Formats: sequence, structure tokens, C-alpha cells
Amino acid sequence: MDLGLQDRIALVTGASSGLGWAAALELAREGCRVAICSRSEARIQAAARRIVEALGLAEDRVLPLVCDVTDEAQIIRMIEQVVDRWNVLNILVTNAGGPPAGYIGDFTADDWRAALELNLLSTINLCRHALPHLRRAAREPNGLARILMITSISAKQPIPNLYLSNAARAGVQGFAKSLAEELGPEGITVNTLLPGYTRTERLQELARVQQQRTGRSLEEIETSWAEQAALKRIGEPHEFAAAVAFLASARASYITGVAFPVDGGRSKHLL
Ligand SMILES: NC(=O)c1ccc[n+]([C@@H]2O[C@H](COP(=O)([O-])OP(=O)(O)OC[C@H]3O[C@@H](n4cnc5c(N)ncnc54)[C@H](OP(=O)(O)O)[C@@H]3O)[C@@H](O)[C@H]2O)c1
Repeated sequence: MDLGLQDRIALVTGASSGLGWAAALELAREGCRVAICSRSEARIQAAARRIVEALGLAEDRVLPLVCDVTDEAQIIRMIEQVVDRWNVLNILVTNAGGPPAGYIGDFTADDWRAALELNLLSTINLCRHALPHLRRAAREPNGLARILMITSISAKQPIPNLYLSNAARAGVQGFAKSLAEELGPEGITVNTLLPGYTRTERLQELARVQQQRTGRSLEEIETSWAEQAALKRIGEPHEFAAAVAFLASARASYITGVAFPVDGGRSKHLL
């Protein structure tokens, strides 16, 4: 299937590793020029090199940028850099790290504020500042404009010790649904992707936290997570990235306002 992504311009945030990096790699493989960001100059440069080398691309098809997505001024500068380089923005994939695990008694008001800034406000600000460019992209002949937000399966089914994440993701879902409704008439689609347990640094960190709390081995913890999925295994980042590429594509033109789980069948809802 031709996804119609050749030479489209994509921005993927939180992309020095994990799901963001895998998504950027897949979009580049499908022909996009990709801008990627993280907080670290060294890590994002290395991530760009890994994409270029993996796909044998010209270096100028991947643009590594430093941006902490909790800082609105840095978001504005990053989007300017993308548009300065390529003049247009077709695809925005919002992503960042996840907040720490814990229960109600573990967090202060500042912890809550930080989590909402990391996972909710960053998403809102990225969309607000990308929107003028996405609108312009949608109006072009053969235009394409897509917003994808990486949240978590915890948006559908909260995970017991992930209070901060559970609350922030629910907010993102409400925001995404509102935006999908407003932008639909302009042909801009807005969807969220909900990863289940997927093998990244974040997952390793969550496993270490559980190990400290429960004394169980890392292997036992991983097995218990794998057992929750219908497919009885942990997901791989490239499996998640394939869903990103499809929802970003020209072929996903009648899909908007959807919360799309990529969780191996972990969530058990009918709908
Ligand atoms: N993996 C899973 O099983 C899973 C399941 C459900 C939900 N999720 C969620 O999906 C998202 C991605 O997960 P992941 O597993 O890929 O996480 P990860 O391996 O920890 O990667 C997070 C990425 O985000 C970047 N980042 C962190 N904070 C940032 C900030 N303030 N500004 C810009 N970039 C930032 C990190 O780069 P730098 O450190 O270089 O800045 C890194 O590239 C997270 O929100 C996570 O909670 C993951």
C-alpha cells in the first residue's frame, strides 16, 4: 500500500529514543522528511544519525532539534526552525517521556503540575503553535495535515500505580476529541495512539520501580505484563510505529477523533 507520505514534512517530539524515535524512523522510511526533538543535543543528534544510517538517507532529510516540550518558548522556536527549513508542516506527532509511577500519597502538588505540563500542556501547546502551518498544509492542492498524539492505554483503562499518567492522558483525550471536531471541516485529522506495554527505556524504568516496591524479579514483572495482553507478549517499538505511519498517511483520510490502542489486546473493552 502506498501511504502517500513521500516528501511530506513530519515533526515528532520526544524522539531521541523509544516510541518517538521508532515513529520518526518509520515516517522517514515511508518517505517523509522528519524533524525530531528531545531535551538533549547529544541524544537527538545521535538519534538523527541512527535514522540516516538505518535507511541510507541523505543527512538533510532528518532535522534534529533541541526542545523541552514543557517550555512554550522552546516549542515556538522549534516549529519556526522546521518551517524555516522546509516551509511547510504536514504531520505533528506529540510525544514526551512519562511521569513517575506511584500512588496518591506519593506526589506533591508540584509533582502533579509537572506531570500535567509534561503530558497535557505540552500536547496542547505543540498543537496550538503548529496549527497555523497545518492549516496551510491542508489548504494546498493534494494537501495533507495530521495531528497524532501519543498517550497511553491508561487513557482507556487506568493502570493502578500510574496516577499522574492516568490523569494527564485523560485530559489529552478530551483535548484531542475537541480538536478533531473543530478541525474536521478543514480536512485536518486528529487521532491519539495508545501504546500498551512496549519495550523501551521507559518500560525498563517502570519495571525497576515495581521491583523495588514488590521485591519481584524483573523477569516476573515482564511476564505479568505480557500475560495481560491477548497476544501474551510485550510490544516492540516498530509495531507501534507502523500504526503511527498509517494514521499519518493519506490512506487514513476518513479516520479522525479516534483513540487507537496498540496494546496487543491488553484493553478488554468491547469498544
Ligand atoms: N513504553 C511503554 O510501554 C509505554 C506504554 C504506555 C505509554 N507510554 C508513553 O509513551 C510515551 C513515550 O514512551 P517511551 O516508552 O518511548 O519513553 P522513553 O523511552 O522514556 O522515551 C521518551 C522520549 O521523550 C524524550 N523526552 C522526555 N521528556 C521530554 C521533554 N520534556 N521534552 C522533549 N523530549 C522529552 C526523551 O528524550 P531526552 O531524554 O533526550 O529528552 C525520549 O526521547 C511516554 O509518554 C510514555 O509514558 C509508553
